[in-house]
Amino acid sequence: MSLKHHADRLKSSSFRKLIEARAGMATVSAPGWSIDLTRHYLDVDAEAALAETAAEKNLKGAVTRLFDGDIVNTSEDRAALHWALRAGAPKSEAAQKVCSSVQTAESLASRIAGGQMVTAEGRPFTAIVHIGIGGSDFGPRLVADAFHDCRRPGLELRYCANLDPLDLDLALEGLDPATTLIVGVSKSFGTEETLYNLARARDWVQSSVNDGWGSHFVLVTASPSRATAWLGNPDGHILDLPETVGGRFSIWSAGSVACSIVLENDVMREFRQGAADMDTHVAETPMAENAAIRLALLDYWNSAFMGFGSRALLAYSRRLRLLPAYLQQLEMESNGKSVSPGGEAIDTATAPLLWGGEGTIGQHSYHQWLHQSPAIVPTEFVLAPGATDDAEGVTGLTAHALAQAEVLANGRTLEEVRAEEPELPLEIAAQKVHAGGRPSSFFHAPVLTPYRLGSLIALFEHRTYLAGVLWGVNSFDQWGVERGKTMAGRLKPALAGKDKADDPVTAALIDTLKR
Ligand code: F6P
Repeated sequence: MSLKHHADRLKSSSFRKLIEARAGMATVSAPGWSIDLTRHYLDVDAEAALAETAAEKNLKGAVTRLFDGDIVNTSEDRAALHWALRAGAPKSEAAQKVCSSVQTAESLASRIAGGQMVTAEGRPFTAIVHIGIGGSDFGPRLVADAFHDCRRPGLELRYCANLDPLDLDLALEGLDPATTLIVGVSKSFGTEETLYNLARARDWVQSSVNDGWGSHFVLVTASPSRATAWLGNPDGHILDLPETVGGRFSIWSAGSVACSIVLENDVMREFRQGAADMDTHVAETPMAENAAIRLALLDYWNSAFMGFGSRALLAYSRRLRLLPAYLQQLEMESNGKSVSPGGEAIDTATAPLLWGGEGTIGQHSYHQWLHQSPAIVPTEFVLAPGATDDAEGVTGLTAHALAQAEVLANGRTLEEVRAEEPELPLEIAAQKVHAGGRPSSFFHAPVLTPYRLGSLIALFEHRTYLAGVLWGVNSFDQWGVERGKTMAGRLKPALAGKDKADDPVTAALIDTLKR
């Protein structure tokens, strides 16, 4: 029977009966995490058919190709070596080069943090401003926010990504240019937003630092010639972001040097160790217990066969509040595609819309929609308290996560409502019905640590790549981001009144904006 037939069969099955049959039989363990996959529209036969698909599409071979450094990014003729950023002693020369880029960044970071590398005037730095966007921003921002309580004293860390001038204004507000280090991260060193903000930051530093202003800059890029030309100053520092590391896979790289400077030593080390252990899990674990393969198959199943167009990640964890935004780029820029590497149109749905937020907060916002709108959205609960010293808070966080998953799955029939609240008028009772049948996965860790954040993100990287293999897309290029940038450049003369926009609606909008 085909996956489509299984999906049609299971869509009309009782969700409660399906999951009762799976209870306790669909938990996967991965470094630092337990993952329960019970509550999904699956049964033994559908799982078997998915396993056959995994074999047909050679997922284990795809894992091997990744770790062998094969050209998995065919449109850019590149390997994807992000795993080498956290590998202890990789075999190939290319992987060793990637690995050494991290070591160089870490030694620079410890010299800055330790006061051996100082300002132009010979003083220690007191603030770091990280300027970058997309994969050159989301990752370091997530790690620094997650472990904000693990910062070294006396070093403030700010971020700037937006073209809106206010973003840099706020990032620089109250800082002293004479003791501030600017970390500029741009793999291409051609991203308009980053170059705009770096130029303004340079003016700001030069307003207070004359000779040696370059020592207030660390630039991280795969384009050292562009960075060197931009700096035009021998005192600046340039770190390598290898071409074989995709921007949205670069959280492990020198691009996170600001975190290495500001956070205590063990944070980034533990973070990369968790990812390295997850790499081992993914490389060596047989399919049925391989968390990345199981999750990739589920993503493929839920979007291409069950027809669920989105997935909500509900982080029951304050440290993971930026995780949904980070994963949006990782998953949607990787797999939000509809043409194969060979140029053929793909005939199924591919990556779903990924959204979400902090679970506790969402319960007072969009959970009404999750429970009672007609839409069925698979949810992903990630329960990992940031602190465990208050039992009442941890118990409450846990109880709410478990309760939300149960109600989403089981719903509440009119009969149940009327049995529990017989005094309710029928029209109110009817409004208290929950359709249920909402699938969910439940990730759990007793407390969120740098190790577990690293293993979780590495897991999602592998899941994203393998789901891309199943959907038939190249997860490592992003041709869809180019057109908008090109068109923006073409509209600037129209905005300056020197030209007219080709598109009549845009032209009318510009007229309105200028009035
Ligand atoms: O969004 C497009 C993109 O190229 C991302 O893939 C990348 O992470 C971001 O822009 C920033 O690019 P760069 O690091 O080259 O400035």
